[in-house]
Amino acid sequence: MLHGPNLNLLGKREPEVYGSTTLDAINQQLEQASKGLEIHLSILQSNHEGVLVDAIQQAFGQQQGLLINPGAYTHTSVAIRDAIAAIDLPTVEVHLSNIYRREAFRHHSYIAPVAIGQISGFGADSYLWGLHALVQHLRKSIPA
Ligand code: DQA
Repeated sequence: MLHGPNLNLLGKREPEVYGSTTLDAINQQLEQASKGLEIHLSILQSNHEGVLVDAIQQAFGQQQGLLINPGAYTHTSVAIRDAIAAIDLPTVEVHLSNIYRREAFRHHSYIAPVAIGQISGFGADSYLWGLHALVQHLRKSIPA
């Protein structure tokens, strides 16, 4: 699970857009869901594009899938998109807000074309839907 820039401020940051749930609370929900799904989840938040690129590269050979909220880098980062394309790991993109109901500059995602799919607009629940979608996809495509 990679959280991009400014997501460390969740709970305080524009609560009318992103809700009042903190990043710690979201991470706890994800950890709990991971136990139920019997998967191992590594979580990182960074405000730095290069740190996120490094983490995506390091996932190669170590992880089976990638869940990512790239934050504002969704709309700007060819580097994050290229890193995901390079490691070729099933990726689900999530957003708390519905980026298509917001400003025009948020309507384009550099990540969507290299993701299996995107979940956008369900607040903190977007992460849980995203995790389930990714695990379901992996369980269908990887023989037990
Ligand atoms: C976001 C949407 C982005 O447009 C914004 O820059 C964010 C958060 C979301 O989760 O709704 O930082 O990714």
